[in-house]
Amino acid sequence: MSDSSRRTFTASLATAASFSRVLGANDRVRMGYIGLGNRGDQVHDAFLEHGDNQTTAVCDLRDDYMDFAIRKSRATPKKYGDYRGLLDDKEVDAVVIATPDHWHALQFIDACNAGKDVYVEKPLSLTVFEGRRMVETARRTQRVTQVGIHRRSAPFLKEAAEFVRAGGLGQVTVARSFHILNQWPKGIGNPAGSAPPSEAEWEQWLGPAPKVPYNRNRMFYNFRWFYHYSGGQLTNFGVHYMDMIRWCLGKEWPRAVTAMGGKYAVEDNREIPDTLEALWEFEGGTLVSFSQYNCNAAPADAQRAEIELRGTKGTMYIHGARWEVVPEKITDLSTFPRTPLDRASERAYGPSRKAAMEPRSAKGSQDTALHARNFLGCVKSRARCTCDIEIGHRSTAATLIANIAHKTRSYLEWDGQAERFTNSEAANRLLHYKYRAPYKLG
Ligand SMILES: NC(=O)c1ccc[n+]([C@@H]2O[C@H](COP(=O)([O-])OP(=O)(O)OC[C@H]3O[C@@H](n4cnc5c(N)ncnc54)[C@H](O)[C@@H]3O)[C@@H](O)[C@H]2O)c1
Repeated sequence: MSDSSRRTFTASLATAASFSRVLGANDRVRMGYIGLGNRGDQVHDAFLEHGDNQTTAVCDLRDDYMDFAIRKSRATPKKYGDYRGLLDDKEVDAVVIATPDHWHALQFIDACNAGKDVYVEKPLSLTVFEGRRMVETARRTQRVTQVGIHRRSAPFLKEAAEFVRAGGLGQVTVARSFHILNQWPKGIGNPAGSAPPSEAEWEQWLGPAPKVPYNRNRMFYNFRWFYHYSGGQLTNFGVHYMDMIRWCLGKEWPRAVTAMGGKYAVEDNREIPDTLEALWEFEGGTLVSFSQYNCNAAPADAQRAEIELRGTKGTMYIHGARWEVVPEKITDLSTFPRTPLDRASERAYGPSRKAAMEPRSAKGSQDTALHARNFLGCVKSRARCTCDIEIGHRSTAATLIANIAHKTRSYLEWDGQAERFTNSEAANRLLHYKYRAPYKLG
């Protein structure tokens, strides 16, 4: 896109913002979809579960993905090869953005400026700087926003977060999370370089990312193993877990972060580590970790959970569709045997150990349809969504700074208010990257 065409487009969006219509409770929200691959298709299905919306427009680089979506929809949506055409469409009230991470910021900001409400997939952005700009734009244009961290709309997980925040586990000193999968030896493979499906498609895929020779693995789905388009599994899965942990702790940001790992055993052309440990410290005394073990699938956690929260009174294990709390057994140290006579009495009675709390558990669904439902309701009521942009940004930013710690091989102190590191200018320089011309963050 040339500078002048981007200027004209931005000007047309500025006028478009004033056209957004006011929707009543019984109105149908007219939806536009940007990106209809793996996740876009799932989110489309989630919206189709509800009657009060219709698929009005679709946009993807692939014609067959658009046709597939059109066949599922209950309407006759228009097809756009370029997302800017979809955003110019006055028949579209709200958009879903499910493109690769490096496109989220540009498309989100353009959508807000075009007067559309936005459901944008996680991770919110590729950089912390982009995420903050997205928040500012959403607030300035007064858009309703939902970030695709769908656990936020699951009632059983809300119950878990409220229980922990109310002190149910006591003081939580450790929270761990895991992405465990054995991808050794071949992983995503190592395909030879080749010509792209079409130069135009490759160009549109790359967008603001650096121009590099085409490789099949850099495109559909597998882009998440390359840093130009994704933060790797740390932001792909890690953002769901970080968000859940932040929700439970009731804390906005970590005060420090470090990470170690590498591509140790998998023989493919990925850039991201196959083995990684990221560690954050939160104010008030909680260590949070994300363990990515992609060369061995043995469970790392007593319950094979995704997330484990260790409190002074009990441990919460959070799985996809359930959570449970295992009480701690508190030992009364005042009755602990210290002398031969104590020990004789202990043999008779044993040390005093009692459960610190009652066990607890809950089951539920974290179906994306719940998240879509929340978004549709908020589009009409203008209330903030369960995973409003600021929440999605803070959870994404926490994972992105761990990637910076990994890249710079450092222990970094984080000022979450200023969104800057206080002990490394080299790390601060990685809070954003230079877009390829002519792309500019609006
Ligand atoms: N919430 C979740 O649990 C969840 C699950 C999977 C993926 N995701 C997120 O969804 C996003 C997409 O991932 P995916 O697995 O669907 O990838 P994918 O490669 O299957 O789909 C991406 C789609 O975007 C399209 N696209 C790329 N550039 C475009 C452009 N400029 N304009 C229009 N369309 C464009 C591609 O043609 C492709 O169909 C990622 O950000 C990912 O993190 C979220």
